[in-house]
Formats: sequence, structure tokens, C-alpha cells
Amino acid sequence: MLNFNFQNSTHIHFGSEQIQVIKTEIPSNAKVLVVYGGGSIKKNGVYEQVSEALNEHIWFEFSGIEPNPTYSTLMKAQEIIKNESIDYILAVGGGSVVDGAKFIAAAALYQGDDPWNILAKQEAVSKALPLSAVLTLPATGSESNGNSVVTRDGNKLPFSSPLVRPLFAVLDPSVTLSLSDRQISNGVVDAFVHIMEQYLTYDVNGKVQDRFSEGLLQTLIEEGPKALQAETKEDLDIRANIMWSATMALNGLIGSGVPQDWSTHMIGHELTGEFNIDHARTLSIVLPAVMKVRKEQKREKLLQYAARVWQINSGNEDERINQAIKLTEQFFIQMQVPTRLSDVDLSESDIDLLIDRLANHGMTSLGEHGDITLEISREILTTAL
Ligand code: NZQ
Ligand code: ZN
Repeated sequence: MLNFNFQNSTHIHFGSEQIQVIKTEIPSNAKVLVVYGGGSIKKNGVYEQVSEALNEHIWFEFSGIEPNPTYSTLMKAQEIIKNESIDYILAVGGGSVVDGAKFIAAAALYQGDDPWNILAKQEAVSKALPLSAVLTLPATGSESNGNSVVTRDGNKLPFSSPLVRPLFAVLDPSVTLSLSDRQISNGVVDAFVHIMEQYLTYDVNGKVQDRFSEGLLQTLIEEGPKALQAETKEDLDIRANIMWSATMALNGLIGSGVPQDWSTHMIGHELTGEFNIDHARTLSIVLPAVMKVRKEQKREKLLQYAARVWQINSGNEDERINQAIKLTEQFFIQMQVPTRLSDVDLSESDIDLLIDRLANHGMTSLGEHGDITLEISREILTTAL
């Protein structure tokens, strides 16, 4: 196992009727900015629950954070923060809203020339307003990590800081009942790929991390499809297992002390930036191709994945690996997400553009060995056609 530091300080409040804890969790003298997206929280009762819980606080609101939050929208929140002396941010929504709130919190106390540098130049965040989250879409893990992804002019860039990790997060599975099938699918697949990118590398004898990852993958394989089926769609236990899996997938635990390979995400970000494809749907297209192209480098872990996650124990090594990749693709298809570039109407002629974008963003040595060059990214995209 590799050396690691691990601290996850986000206080999780999990279960039904937990939204009311924000009343006591947010300091009573705080001036709160509630930030949210396009209005789903006004249709499913979450906005009312938050308003009710904050009835003794001084609070303001900022809405309109879009999926794949944009820099220009997020910067608009700075005015109200200054004018009203806001000193606490509460994000209410999915990963985009939570990510957006993180950037708003960091930009509010930014002291350099241009807050865009936090993303473009990866300037370290030295101060940020405190923030917490009421999560409405299980997917990103943003509710208990320090990561955020912001888009400007089609450039989708990540930043990370422990200072923007939510202080607490409310996870009430019942609020996910209003999600569309598309958002349920996206969430399950995003979480699945987060686990894979921390698991499918090379063996460092990180048994705890591996077994946690395999358990989470199996949970998503078992429960994900049920959340799409009419008979089981409303089952709160299924929603709870998906929600907790998505948080555990990217709260730092399973990635501590093991190599990681975020190439699927980095290539996927270019597909979203250029063609506006939903985040998770880029991942379901890229991951199977990464598994195929990096078969030799990932051989040992692919065999472990085949045996422990899919119970494939017969056949020679190549047959077992190929079967595991096939079952992964079938799981994605069952979750109603695309697995090929052609499924989203892209073809070979689009690959040059994606490679240029990877080059412009410095994504020239991806993967657990840093050896996924632009040439190999091209091979991955070609395999995904
Ligand atoms: O904006 P509203 O009206 O709230 O609607 C949203 C949005 O249209 C809707 N929604 C959310 N909760 C709902 C709901 N609709 C009905 N009922 C509910 N309970 O769902 C739509 C999509 O929301 P979004 O927040 O964009 O989805 P998601 O949670 O998948 O977040 C995606 C973003 O997170 C980033 C992605 O790049 C993307 O920008 N990521 C963040 C990560 C992190 N912070 O660690 C890691 C991820 O890999 C990912 O990159
Ligand atoms: Zn993701």
C-alpha cells in the first residue's frame, strides 16, 4: 500500500427528514446564501424544507447554477455576497450546484488578480467562506470532497482544496424520487466510474481499498437498474444504497494509498466541453475503451475485477478479461447510457478536435503510470467509435 494522509471532516446527516438539521448546524448568527440550480428544488418540496429550517436565520438566495456550472454565472453571486455581507454558503442541489458553491466560496475571499486563476493556473485556495450542502442527486461525491469542476468558454477545469469541503451534508434519499431516469442513470454511472478509476490500476496490496471498491461496485450493479424499474423505482432502500455508494465512491476513502487513473474523466471532460454531452455519458463511452486499450497495464486488476465483481472464474486470462469488459458495457446499456461515440453521433472526424483540446489542457500524460500520451488517448477514442 502507498503512504497516504486521509481526513474527511464532512459531517453526514443521512436519512429522511434530515434537512431540518440545517437549523442547528448553521451558526445562528450566520448570514447565509442559499445557492441552487434551475428550480428542481421548488418542484419537489426541498426549497420549502430548507426555507422552513432557516426561518430563524438571515438568508438570501442565488439561483440559476446550470449543469456543468459556468464561471460567468458563478461570478454573478459575488455581488450579493458583498452587498449583504454573506458569511456562509448553503448549496442545495446536485453536483453542479455543490461544485458551483465551492467556487463561489473560494472566489468570495480570493485576494489575487483574477479568480479564474484558481482553475486556469491551479492557484492554491488560501481562504474560502464556509459551506455545506443539501444533496439532491447522488453522483459526484461533491457533498463530501474538496473537488469542483467549472466551465468557461467550453473549457471544463477542475480545482481542489480542503477549504471548500462541505462542513456538513444532508443526504435524504427521498429527495431523489423526483429525479428523471436520465439523472438516475447518470448518477449511478458517474459513481461507478469514480470507483473504477481508483481501483482499476495495478496491485499495491491495498486490500481494504480493493474490497471496499468491489463492494461499492457490486452495490451499484445490483441497485442501479432497480431504480429505473417501475416496480422498484420508489423503493427508498434502493435509493439510500445508491446515495451512500455515490458518496463513498469519492470521499477520499477508497482512493487513499492506491494508484489512481483519471484518464476516463479527463477525456470525458473534453467530450462535455466540446459537444455538451452529459458528464456520466462521456464516461460510459470512454471507460470500456480505456479497459480495452490498457488491458496489458491493468491485466492483474482486470482479472481481480472479473473474479470478484462479476464472478468470472473460467476461461483463460484474456477470455475472463474480455468477458468482464463486456459485462461492464452491458451494465451501462442496462443503465440506459451510451457506450460508443457513434451512439452520440460522433465519428472519426471528431477525434482530432478532442485530441487538440487534451493537448491545450495539458492532458498529455494521463493514467496511473502517466503514460497515456495523446497518441494513446487517440487510440482510446478510436476504440470507442
Ligand atoms: O438545476 P436543477 O433544476 O436543480 O436540476 C438539476 C439538473 O438539471 C437536476 N436535479 C438535481 N436534483 C434533482 C434534479 N431534478 C429533479 N429532482 C432532483 N432531486 O439534475 C440536473 C443535473 O444536475 P447536476 O448537478 O448537473 O448533476 P450531477 O450531480 O451529475 O453533477 C454533474 C457535475 O459535477 C461535476 C461534473 O463535471 C458536472 O459538472 N463533477 C464533480 C465532481 C466532484 N466535485 O468531485 C466529480 C465528478 O466526476 C464530476 O466531474
Ligand atoms: Zn465524475
